Amino acid sequence: MTEPLVLGIETSCDETGIGIVRGRTLLSNTIASSMDEHARYGGVVPEVAARAHLEALEPAIEAALAESGVTLTDLDAVAVTSGPGLAGALMVGIGAAKALAVSLGKPLYAVNHLVGHIAADILDPDAPPLEYPTVALLVSGGHTSLLLVRDLTTDIELLGETMDDAAGEAFDKVARLLGLPYPGGPEIDRAAASGDPAAIRFPRGLSRASDLAQHRYDFSFSGLKTAVARWIEQRRAAGEEVPVADVAAAFREAVVDVLVTKALAACKDHGVPRLLLGGGVIANRRLRDIALERAEAAGVTVRIPPLSLCTDNGAMIAALASELVMSGRAPSTLEFGADSTLPV
Ligand code: KG4
Ligand code: ZN
Repeated sequence: MTEPLVLGIETSCDETGIGIVRGRTLLSNTIASSMDEHARYGGVVPEVAARAHLEALEPAIEAALAESGVTLTDLDAVAVTSGPGLAGALMVGIGAAKALAVSLGKPLYAVNHLVGHIAADILDPDAPPLEYPTVALLVSGGHTSLLLVRDLTTDIELLGETMDDAAGEAFDKVARLLGLPYPGGPEIDRAAASGDPAAIRFPRGLSRASDLAQHRYDFSFSGLKTAVARWIEQRRAAGEEVPVADVAAAFREAVVDVLVTKALAACKDHGVPRLLLGGGVIANRRLRDIALERAEAAGVTVRIPPLSLCTDNGAMIAALASELVMSGRAPSTLEFGADSTLPV
């Protein structure tokens, strides 16, 4: 099939994403988020997310079809995220995808969410074709992973990942310590704009020589969060005001520094002059600026898809399935379930 028409369903976290693509062309990317419902809890609540997907899915599918002018019978395949992610949330999307595929008599593709984030790049109409191999750094509220992509559909190696909190989660937790609302990433970004990143030196997780031997490409953000908490506590105990802008800027600098340092180390070690960024944390201006600046100095080209394709969405899931169809991959059988820790 030259240019398959694929509908993708993404429900691994708090975004209900429905995307429709034809080959590598994006036709629609509909997203309903339950983020507001999670805000009062300070993070995503799995059961709330699953219930929200159930309500949002059908209208999101209708909206995506209307936007693209496609009818269900036109589809060549249905795709769905089968993991990693929140099990209950994934199950809602998987149930819907199976029902659609069976009732329409269309092939069904179960795909990996992280690989989907990489596939998002393919839909960027302004970017030249993705070259292999490439290093990919995926950073969001749910994951922080460094991958070596030799081929999107057949050969992806996980180089490293977070040992505890995801980078976005660290932003959310530190924002809470500073009394800023959820989601914390954009709030910290805003507060940091008037702060001095060098005012405080917060620790860079897993960056000591002794850590690097075993965890060269792994991340850890829980120690950083604890260091920020302790620093704030000491200030308050001394009756001093907490300089929110400086703490935000210094924290952001620690996260960005370690993300970019490890991603570029992976490029250098593997002789790969290409780095692809993805995930919602890419919205961070400082992360993009530092990555571009240091990559240029290292002779590495950086690719950053449009933000609407970097955050969780169904179009990236459809794009990945479209690649699988075009590469001749057989569809999934109906037995698959949700795998919250699905490897790449
Ligand atoms: O990819 P995403 O929309 O959803 C998943 O978590 O999968 O990412 C959301 C995460 C949240 O943790 C949010 O705080 C973070 O991305 N984020 C940011 C920024 N905008 C969103 N983190 C840092 N700086 C930002 N500007
Ligand atoms: Zn994601």
